[in-house]
Amino acid sequence: MTLPLSVPARLSEAVTTPVHALHGAEGCTMVIFGAGGDLTRRKLIPSLFHLMIDGLLPSNFSILGVDHHAIGEDEFRQRMRMNLQEFGFDGGKPVAPEDWERFAQRLGYLTGELGDRETYVRLRRHLTTIDERDPSTCGRLFYLAIPPSLYPTVITQLSQSGAAPRVHEAQERPWTRIVIEKPFGRDLDSARELNALVRRSFAEHQIYRIDHYLGKETVQNLLVFRFANSIFEPVWNRLHVHHVQITAAEQVGVEHRGRYYEEAGVVRDMFQNHLLQLVALTAMEPPITFSADAVRDEKLKVLKAIRPITPEEMHDYSVRGQYGPGVVNGTAVPGYRDEPNVARDSGVPTYAAVRFMIDNWRWHDVPFYLRSGKRLPHRATEIAIQFRKPPHLMFPLREGEALEPNVLAIRIQPNEGISLRFEVKIPGVDVHMVPVEMNFDYNEVFGGANHEAYETLLLDCMQGEATLFTRSDEVEAAWAIVDPMMHFWEGKRPEHFPNYAAGTWGPTVADEFIERMGARWRKP
Ligand code: BG6
Repeated sequence: MTLPLSVPARLSEAVTTPVHALHGAEGCTMVIFGAGGDLTRRKLIPSLFHLMIDGLLPSNFSILGVDHHAIGEDEFRQRMRMNLQEFGFDGGKPVAPEDWERFAQRLGYLTGELGDRETYVRLRRHLTTIDERDPSTCGRLFYLAIPPSLYPTVITQLSQSGAAPRVHEAQERPWTRIVIEKPFGRDLDSARELNALVRRSFAEHQIYRIDHYLGKETVQNLLVFRFANSIFEPVWNRLHVHHVQITAAEQVGVEHRGRYYEEAGVVRDMFQNHLLQLVALTAMEPPITFSADAVRDEKLKVLKAIRPITPEEMHDYSVRGQYGPGVVNGTAVPGYRDEPNVARDSGVPTYAAVRFMIDNWRWHDVPFYLRSGKRLPHRATEIAIQFRKPPHLMFPLREGEALEPNVLAIRIQPNEGISLRFEVKIPGVDVHMVPVEMNFDYNEVFGGANHEAYETLLLDCMQGEATLFTRSDEVEAAWAIVDPMMHFWEGKRPEHFPNYAAGTWGPTVADEFIERMGARWRKP
């Protein structure tokens, strides 16, 4: 049963003006390493195109793709146009020729091996020419859309060639910024090494470590929801919260990403970054200001307060799984071990459920249950705050009836929104109760989220706004949490894999795991 919320009329006007429109991007050149890769095709180019259409890119903004494919500028533009048609976010709406023309004028391409010094010499020359042609550009944005094994090479070469100089103060012009994709390292040691390497060449304010979850409208709204309302704060703690459940369920399988996934697995792929970021935003204290460091300081405190799971506790605190063949949306799909580039006896988990405890005053003894998996029945990411039941119930319950606790569910995607479940009396002469939901739906109120996460994040990098990016200490703190789990699992072959069929909610042991603690997984 759902109780709809009414929408104040003035909202519809307010939401049509993106916040960012108030201060558009600064003119700059964006260099994309890995211009022929998947991320560029699927996310970067469509996002940049949309920013242009929305009038958020200044006229002195240009893009320079760098990759080893020996193609000319025209061919590169042609490929990008085809990608846009395929991956644009407007439901396949044709790209208007005049819009494409405006965009294509900004697109350049440079062929070069990323390990070759000469590439960076030519890159530097190219960038100098652009700067001379248009002295009003104020910065260079280097985007590393490349396999992580190439990060050290590109970072070192960028610095040594002088193409990306160190800039001491964030306010200095021209600026140079480097955007680094996840995964940032593959464990704590390698993340530390990478951070050290980055620090040798650049100042921290020049580095933008992307976690695209932070660019999602609903994730950003978590801060507003928590800190621009006063009614939630008094109950947002151990006195009222029984537990928190964070789910990131995916319907898709590993598909063409087998090679990457065999190296990663679900903990590196989803927990170290996206899920721990959601925990941090849910659990953090109110920052003093809405500024990058104030927000990141508070997130860091949460990550540092998460109790490490010891090898002896792993059984009680975690469950892992791997999908076998099954049926998704009525279609038979292969198991993980039958996906391309996956070992036939792979022990890599595609599902994990973990209980984290946060050792601080606010959250002492409140379990945070996290789970994520591929090939689950449908796509759903949500944060559910389950409150304690009333200490004493004066209403009689019918045979077999149980009182449902209050749940505040924040739906990150899809069906973005927030709902609150509470009990009401069923009209009638007897006192009988039923749970209902009060529901806020983004689509109803705002007509859908305005921007793709990458649009928000790209614009932020160009504006020097780092709040939605992870700082070096945050990344290391997150690795420190998952490292012991990964090492434990990697040292212990899972003889029981595959242990859930594609299209189901994960292994049955995951249900037993949470039930032992007196809770139940939600079906978001
Ligand atoms: C990526 C992971 O970071 O996030 C993918 O590498 C995963 O495996 C994806 O599918 C999920 O993102 P989203 O935005 O679809 O929830």
